[in-house]
Amino acid sequence: MTSETLSNLSHEERRFPPPADLAAAANVKAEAYAAASQDFEGFWATQADRLDWGQKWDRVLNWDNPPFAKWFEGGTINAAVNCVDRHVDAGNGDKVAIHWVGEPEDDTRDITYAQLQDEVNKATNALVSLGVTKGDRVAIYLPMIPECVFTMLACARLGAPHTVIFGGFSADALASRITDCGAKVVVTSDGGYRRGAPSALKPAVDEAVAKVDGLVEHVLVVRRTGQDDIAWNDDVDVWWHELVEQQSTEHEAELHDAEHPLYVMYTSGTTGKPKGILHTTGGYLVGTSYTHWAVFDLKPETDVYWCTADVGWVTGHSYMVYGPLANGATQVMYEGVPDAPHKGRWWEIIEKYGVTIFYTAPTAIRTFMKWGKEIPDKFDLSSVRVLGSVGEPINPEAYVWYRDTIGAGETPVVDTWWQTETGQILISPLPGVTEAKPGSAMTPLPGIDADVVNDEGESVPDGSGGYLVLRKPWPAMLRTIWGDDERYKDTYWSRWPGVYFAGDGAKKDEDGDIWVLGRVDDVMNVSGHRLSTTEIESALVSHPKVAEAAVVGAADEMTGQAVCAFVILRESAGGESGDALVQELRNHVAKEIGAIAKPRQILIVPELPKTRSGKIMRRLLRDVAEKRDIGDVTTLADSSVMNLIQSGMSSGSSDE
Ligand code: PRX
Repeated sequence: MTSETLSNLSHEERRFPPPADLAAAANVKAEAYAAASQDFEGFWATQADRLDWGQKWDRVLNWDNPPFAKWFEGGTINAAVNCVDRHVDAGNGDKVAIHWVGEPEDDTRDITYAQLQDEVNKATNALVSLGVTKGDRVAIYLPMIPECVFTMLACARLGAPHTVIFGGFSADALASRITDCGAKVVVTSDGGYRRGAPSALKPAVDEAVAKVDGLVEHVLVVRRTGQDDIAWNDDVDVWWHELVEQQSTEHEAELHDAEHPLYVMYTSGTTGKPKGILHTTGGYLVGTSYTHWAVFDLKPETDVYWCTADVGWVTGHSYMVYGPLANGATQVMYEGVPDAPHKGRWWEIIEKYGVTIFYTAPTAIRTFMKWGKEIPDKFDLSSVRVLGSVGEPINPEAYVWYRDTIGAGETPVVDTWWQTETGQILISPLPGVTEAKPGSAMTPLPGIDADVVNDEGESVPDGSGGYLVLRKPWPAMLRTIWGDDERYKDTYWSRWPGVYFAGDGAKKDEDGDIWVLGRVDDVMNVSGHRLSTTEIESALVSHPKVAEAAVVGAADEMTGQAVCAFVILRESAGGESGDALVQELRNHVAKEIGAIAKPRQILIVPELPKTRSGKIMRRLLRDVAEKRDIGDVTTLADSSVMNLIQSGMSSGSSDE
């Protein structure tokens, strides 16, 4: 973030107060902030009381052994019972939980809470029949179909932590995640629909299962696309429709310890190895359900909520599955892309189901801006009353377009800051309270202690920038990195004692409101997807023709950042260069990590800029990738390197 951008942000003078009627009826009012700061634990206990517990907790927070938190210690709870059974028991069995919309037109399914209960129980019994017991891990590699939700909740019901792997990851990435968390069952489908065409998933699972050496005992396969050419191994593979459909709809749920693992979600860090972020049951459900109710002002009786995130990411977990279902919401779940079969598909869905709360990512908003407002203008979007944004900083221009075009110029936009690790939204406006500024996540939510600090860990004054930190634990926080407590401590809690460092830079404006600026570490954010520069570098150097690689995230108008790679070839590559090789390397990254990590641009270079101690100066590479004048090169071991790289800019690059 340049100082110019910083000063532009601070000149933002537009203010959007909450609509009066929304403010008057809001779930959360301004008093909540003071109440939470006066009695932190009491505040979270009150939110926990919104859920159904078996044994009530003895202690709200045990922080005796930081950074290892225990929330609602001694309490017992079942996430699936809270997301499903309790709504049926309360007489809401006929209420729609999920309006599912397949990508092919007219392929829809409305699932009530009573039906959801039957489906989850059948899936639970099916997993039991495959030998899954409490504590076992189950990997899920599915498109956005209801069976994905059924499986997650079935795992939660059993106490078998799930790990959902986004469909855009490759067989190799799948195999390393299966191995890391030791999953014995994988749930997948033959394929899913992508822009009107079936796209296979099972072949990647087959390849991954072969790689993990007998670890996976069963693969449960949903028939979604009906592709008839999929390979089948009778010893391992089982069809969902054959196994699950014959199961009983009854299942007696056990209440699990509040700290029982709920799921592991892999995310990129600053090293080559993805981190398995562990979330546990009680605190996670409290954090996600409270924030979903507070930030979106959810009125479960009347609202129709829609979060467009894929269930393979944390947003899909917290704000499509656990938060909304724990709150008894009616929601939309859409399988496909925004432009299939036409560019108005999302708005058509909003109109059809009367969506009132809509949650999406800035990269999508910018894409719609590019397509033009005439497209959403053709649809009746008057049902919408709260808009949300997540995943990356939202630029004021996109924010205002979103508010004006989708929100008729009067709908509050909540810019929600959080992370895979935080599990729940931590910094966001409240739609009935906050006078919002376009592009700012504004203030920490009630019960959250966030700050911006300098290198010494001291709070910076208003009007200055620094690092975003959290000073107190919060209920949905990660508990550790799966199997690696040391890495958990080092990564998040070692920079300043007792303080969680999020990896983001932020600024406090003159009013003390927070503007999140993006990552300050080697993590990139491409279309709201988190990617590690190091991980892509190691994928590149695993190619036999590559000697060295450096990857940077360069600013990109559409995707926020884009992956740009600089590659030095091995002698054995024989001076090869040009488009064919660049394509080969891009495909290699897709194979190693997944299509989402494919570099936008690869430059074959003779040298990389390094300091005298051998550290690659990514800052200079970013200058090159963003076509800026390069900054200070005096610390380089060999300052002529930059000339060589720049002269190579025109050759050997590939833009898609
Ligand atoms: O850099 C921040 C950015 O996304 C990162 C977290 O990515 P991930 O774990 O994949 O979770 C994404 C969905 C919660 C953060 O460290 N980020 C997320 N939300 C915002 C954001 N940056 C600015 N403003 C936001 N609202």
